[in-house]
Amino acid sequence: MSGVLLEVDHLTKRFGGVTAVDECSFEVREGTITALIGPNGSGKTTVFNMITGYLKADSGTIRFDNQSIPRPKPADLYRRGLSRTFQQARIFPELTVEENLVVAAGYTWRQLFGARVTTGDAERAQRILREFKLERLSTLPAADLSYGQRKLLEFAAVLMSDPRLVLLDEPTAGVNPVMIDTMERHIRERHAAGVTFLIVEHDMQLVMRLCDPVIVLDQGAPIAFGSPETVQTDPRVLEAYLGS
Ligand SMILES: Nc1ncnc2c1ncn2[C@@H]1O[C@H](COP(=O)(O)OP(=O)(O)OP(=O)(O)O)[C@@H](O)[C@H]1O
Ligand SMILES: [Mg+2]
Repeated sequence: MSGVLLEVDHLTKRFGGVTAVDECSFEVREGTITALIGPNGSGKTTVFNMITGYLKADSGTIRFDNQSIPRPKPADLYRRGLSRTFQQARIFPELTVEENLVVAAGYTWRQLFGARVTTGDAERAQRILREFKLERLSTLPAADLSYGQRKLLEFAAVLMSDPRLVLLDEPTAGVNPVMIDTMERHIRERHAAGVTFLIVEHDMQLVMRLCDPVIVLDQGAPIAFGSPETVQTDPRVLEAYLGS
């Protein structure tokens, strides 16, 4: 049995009078593609933001790779093997596709434009460009990419750190069916290569065929956990979705 890679315990976040995340506890086991689903506003992105250091939790604890992370910082976590994407893809539109990958490896702008990128990182960027079939686009500004291609580029960039755990926030939202298949294939390939995933996703068909287990959040706390089949038929889950 594989171990627990990420553990959140009683995480809480309030925004004024709104408790967005409410004593939320769950774990992600190494080697899984775990889904975090729930109705709009149930706190999924806020959970991601706390885990990855973009928001400070009001209370609760986070453990990654058996170590407590009292003050998560994106750059530290990235180096330790925890990376994420955003609901609205965050890339640098004025940089080329290839430069976006290199920047993701932690280079400063000066190093990038001073051609001080190591051969290893340049080669890694080339490998990932090939893996994602982005070579043809590598010298284009990222601003020229379609919405779906930007999401793909953001995912590709996250892989520059050789992460152990990747958090994807709605990787297929608003992208066309062909791009959904492409995204799914890349997730599966990286999973087969040993990467663990925690995925927020509204496409239930995708969740059902790709993820196991599934965690269901409602009003900031998990209400169900288990195989896709189990949570799909859980009355509390149906109620949460219908009632939202
Ligand atoms: N920065 C913020 N300031 C105030 N309220 C916020 C902020 N971020 C989130 N919220 C509120 O916290 C709750 C949870 O939001 P969150 O974005 O985490 O939900 P979500 O599950 O990701 O929803 P969606 O599926 O629509 O992306 C919502 O009520 C939202 O309005
Ligand atoms: Mg969200």
